Amino acid sequence: MESGWLRHVVLGLVFLVSMASVLESSCEFPAIFNFGDSNSDTGGLSAAFGQAPAPNGQTFFHHPAGRYSDGRLIIDFLAESLGLPYLSAYLNSVGSNFSHGANFATAGSTIRPQNTTMHQSGYSPISLDVQLVQFSGFHKRSHEYRNQGVVFETLLPKADYFSSALYTFDIGQNDLTAGYKLNLTIEQVKASVPDMLAQFSNAVKAVYAQGGRSFWIHNTGPVGCLPYSLDRFLITASQIDKYGCASPFNEVSQYFNRELKAAVVQLRTELPLAAITYVDIYSLKYKLITQAKKFGFTKPFIACCGHGGKYNYNTLARCGAKKIVNGKEVIIANSCKDPSVRIIWDGVHYTEAANKWIFQQIVNGSFSDPPIPLTIACQH
Ligand SMILES: *[C@@H]1O[C@H](CO)[C@@H](O)[C@H](O)[C@H]1NC(C)=O
Ligand SMILES: *[C@@H]1O[C@H](CO)[C@@H](O)[C@H](O)[C@H]1NC(C)=O
Ligand SMILES: *[C@@H]1O[C@H](CO)[C@@H](O)[C@H](O)[C@H]1NC(C)=O
Ligand SMILES: *[C@@H]1O[C@H](CO)[C@@H](O)[C@H](O)[C@H]1NC(C)=O
Repeated sequence: MESGWLRHVVLGLVFLVSMASVLESSCEFPAIFNFGDSNSDTGGLSAAFGQAPAPNGQTFFHHPAGRYSDGRLIIDFLAESLGLPYLSAYLNSVGSNFSHGANFATAGSTIRPQNTTMHQSGYSPISLDVQLVQFSGFHKRSHEYRNQGVVFETLLPKADYFSSALYTFDIGQNDLTAGYKLNLTIEQVKASVPDMLAQFSNAVKAVYAQGGRSFWIHNTGPVGCLPYSLDRFLITASQIDKYGCASPFNEVSQYFNRELKAAVVQLRTELPLAAITYVDIYSLKYKLITQAKKFGFTKPFIACCGHGGKYNYNTLARCGAKKIVNGKEVIIANSCKDPSVRIIWDGVHYTEAANKWIFQQIVNGSFSDPPIPLTIACQH
């Protein structure tokens, strides 16, 4: 009787302690600060250089929303799952609310500043180093302005959010394609990967130096499977893999990813208080494109929104392109009927349905190193 009672108390205590540690182990990120390119741009390029045209945004936002997709991006699903609002673009001066983070990504961004103008090559001048300058200014000025109270208190992050926030990165794809566009050989592009990653590591260190501790880093996708690459770059039949992707471009992406992973390992030794999660987006995108049917998708090599050609992709008439017909402006590169069963939105970017599928695969950590769920990505 007596010992039975005691056993219940002990078991109860064990239960309470383990519950407490479960609660404690969830990071409860109060904010997200994101750096990247179009894969995670929620309005940066649109704010600076003009809105992404309709039909971008049609599925979820029902109007163009600064994203190159019919709806939400992986970063949107990530914010949602952490109970946070969608990230406002740092560059967007109208209607933004940065109380739970800011997005420094712009479409077309590279890690390394390019030696071409946006007009010449299409790459955004807001390269990763510029995004870091913007973050530093944002961090410093947030403190100054919050102290002035009033409306700033509800629009800017609390001071302590900067150390407990999740810092997300998705960048590198454009550094690789910029090389191809300059007609560099595969070997020449590969040779510049160490410099790209040195500059990437510097960005992570700069955030750490400002108190950032939790990092969530996406690797780069299989750019050789995208209509944009298949249409644009010179590819011989023997370079196409059994699924239809251009192997040389994917091999460079995989090389970039191996080196990125090594850079992350190195960063962990140099930044002992950081928790750095490396997320294998490449494998998921490749799996989705090459086994589309299995996951309920069709036409993995055809852009949903585009105009003409083998891949419904034409670099001169991209998604949303307009033409004057009989004195009236009409969209000639419009959306397909059902984007929810398509993977590639506009030849370069993914549909909301694909982004959602990818997010569902990464959130539990099964494609991460270390293999821990998003909710505990602050633990190291
Ligand atoms: C741009 O030019 C500078 C000076 O020649 C060079 O160091 C740098 O690597 C170049 N950047 C890229 C992205 O090619
Ligand atoms: C900004 O967003 C936060 C959280 O969603 C909200 O509490 C706050 O009122 C918003 N600020 C303004 C000025 O709308
Ligand atoms: C790359 O090669 C193509 C085809 O030869 C040529 O039209 C283009 O001007 C070249 N681009 C650059 C940047 O040299
Ligand atoms: C992670 O989630 C995916 C998608 O829901 C599921 O297929 C997979 O089995 C999960 N993995 C683990 C380790 O829980």
